[in-house]
Amino acid sequence: MKQKIVVTGGTGYIGSHTVIDLIQQGFEVIILDSLARSEKKSLCQIEAVTGQQPTFYKVDLCHKSKLEAIFETEKNIVGIIHFAAYKYVDESVKEPLLYFENNISSLINILDIVAKHQIPNFVFSSSCSVYGNITSLPVKEDTPLNKAESPYARTKQIGEMIIEDFSKAYPNNKCISLRYFNPVGAHESGLIGESPSVVPNNLVPRITGTAIGIFDELKIFGTDFPTRDGSCIRDYIHVMDIAEAHTAALRMVMQQNEAMPHEIINLGSGNGVSVKEAVAAFEKVSGKTLKVAYAPPREGDVISIYSDCSKSKSKLNWTAKRNIEDMMRTAWIWEQNRQKK
Ligand code: UFG
Repeated sequence: MKQKIVVTGGTGYIGSHTVIDLIQQGFEVIILDSLARSEKKSLCQIEAVTGQQPTFYKVDLCHKSKLEAIFETEKNIVGIIHFAAYKYVDESVKEPLLYFENNISSLINILDIVAKHQIPNFVFSSSCSVYGNITSLPVKEDTPLNKAESPYARTKQIGEMIIEDFSKAYPNNKCISLRYFNPVGAHESGLIGESPSVVPNNLVPRITGTAIGIFDELKIFGTDFPTRDGSCIRDYIHVMDIAEAHTAALRMVMQQNEAMPHEIINLGSGNGVSVKEAVAAFEKVSGKTLKVAYAPPREGDVISIYSDCSKSKSKLNWTAKRNIEDMMRTAWIWEQNRQKK
């Protein structure tokens, strides 16, 4: 019998790509999503790629009684991957309470389910934003966390702290937090990719959206930073690499037969790429020239960050396989397919 995994936020960007990998690796998947920031058609896209449509419940994880009712029905869950959260740095600066309420309440409610239903394995979507502005790069998991630069980042710091305390109280429920760097790109099939139901603010959807004519120009936020070309540096990582890392992390915790302390692992490629270099990579693979405008720095942004990848390699036996051109190529194919539909 297939092992059952609950994926919260499974119709969202990283969630849906992870669901594809889980299905292809033989798991049965149950998706919980409020559809507040994603669309139900992800389910058909997942089916188009895998031939299977996962079980789906539309539920806001902040509604505890509705969440509990699902777990009264769905039994024998071996693991939960908890993606569901809001993720826009600048929105969180403007609406901090929205982020605290959504990201923290949903985590508390789902951990309560983990404890009550004795679900043995729990994977949490954390973020490299927990590190804040770091001067010593690349960042390792034991690099002390700096001040959060945005309420979004603070929700991830608090989320990890909650899981840390939860793990001490419930050591048999094994927990792992994955600190993603910047997931971008789309599934190689071109059948699924990022489809935000709000106007996207992240760099790659803004690049592809500008190239296809949704946006007039691409604003580059900040050009005088102390980096090699003045623009911010990030560790972009292909969304399917991130998806595969989740399956690897889930397997890693599932294989632990004994109680395990909360584990934290970076998921990055190890390469720092500037905003200007990302634009150049897109222009190279697409053959398009983007209209670019230079704008002041964006509030809440860190200047430069990229990952040390030794822990993900040793603990998960996983490293990122796809490069920045693969990320831009798949994102561009997806953007064109999305607009055709
Ligand atoms: N940028 C631009 N122009 C844009 C959009 C972004 O110059 O139109 C710049 C940003 O200023 C930043 C870089 O591109 O320097 C990357 O910005 P993104 O918005 O793509 O990504 P962030 O690093 O701000 O944050 C993203 C997610 C977070 C996640 C973080 C790390 O939004 O949820 O990656 O995982 F936490």
